[in-house]
Amino acid sequence: LWTTANIIDDSIARVREQVGTDQVMLGLSGGVDSSVVAALLHKAIGDQLTCVFVDHGLLRYKEGDQVMAMFAENMGIKVIRADVEDRFMEALAGETDPEKKRKIIGHEFIEVFDAESAKLKGVKWLAQGTIYPDVIESAGSKTGKAKVIKSHHNVGGLPEDMEMSLIEPLRELFKDEVRKLGVALGLPYNMVYRHPFPGPGLGVRILGEVKKEYADILRLADNIYIEELVKWDLYEKTSQAFTVFLPVKSVGVVGDARRYDYVVALRAVETIDFMTARWAHLPYDFLEHVSGRIINEIPRISRVVYDVSSKPPATIEWE
Ligand code: XMP
Repeated sequence: LWTTANIIDDSIARVREQVGTDQVMLGLSGGVDSSVVAALLHKAIGDQLTCVFVDHGLLRYKEGDQVMAMFAENMGIKVIRADVEDRFMEALAGETDPEKKRKIIGHEFIEVFDAESAKLKGVKWLAQGTIYPDVIESAGSKTGKAKVIKSHHNVGGLPEDMEMSLIEPLRELFKDEVRKLGVALGLPYNMVYRHPFPGPGLGVRILGEVKKEYADILRLADNIYIEELVKWDLYEKTSQAFTVFLPVKSVGVVGDARRYDYVVALRAVETIDFMTARWAHLPYDFLEHVSGRIINEIPRISRVVYDVSSKPPATIEWE
């Protein structure tokens, strides 16, 4: 029978049989798929698993610490955190083209990941959170937007200099099954059902050149937006919601002082497949409240706008 409990038992048995006493490595992003693989492998092989978590400084508010708290502290999983914000900011300096930014982020990611994995001795297996739709997708043409680590090492095989075999315990599962597995394995509901987050992270939500200063401002605004969506019971009614940093300045006034600061856009969409999407008709009261909080609480933001573009013709992300 194809129940969550059976899938878990079956996967654990298969993993144990496959890897025996070998060491296994996993690229942990904090996203649902790699998180579920981490929980599953930890249950199957315990300390034989080491995760590598690349914190590129383009993650959401406190996300890096949350990933560490969850996996390393709570679950006792071995996680190596590569804090490489500076390196990514340097690599991205001066670049404004969206696809080139994606390439830079992807390239740096692989470099860091490979460097960290080279430090681990005697690892024979590379685990990945490939799920069934990824398998299908890579059979056809690739859009270049696929998750970095996946498009690199993915289904097609490993780079030649990496003598590791692939282990992909979620390869036959759909997203909803992966989520159920995650909950059954003890991962928190709000992590398992979190909105999707692109591989290049805030790198494609800061329009034009990426700077740490912008990322820090964006994280604060986005955190307020998401926090309020949850409070107003709107988070689960939207498929994806986030804040975009616009590197233009707009005039405002606080008390009797004029201010001249940045603009952020709020985005929220409803979609089933992310191929088409409708902009979410969030209540005006809600938008008013969020905009007020963002402008009042974040000194460098003077204006908030709401994105009323559906896909097509607009994409969900702004870049
Ligand atoms: P778009 O903007 O293409 O987004 O309408 C559709 C979905 O894909 C996500 N997305 C990405 N995911 N790397 C990713 O891993 C990317 O470069 C990327 N670009 C877009 C986006 O967040 C949305 O869920």
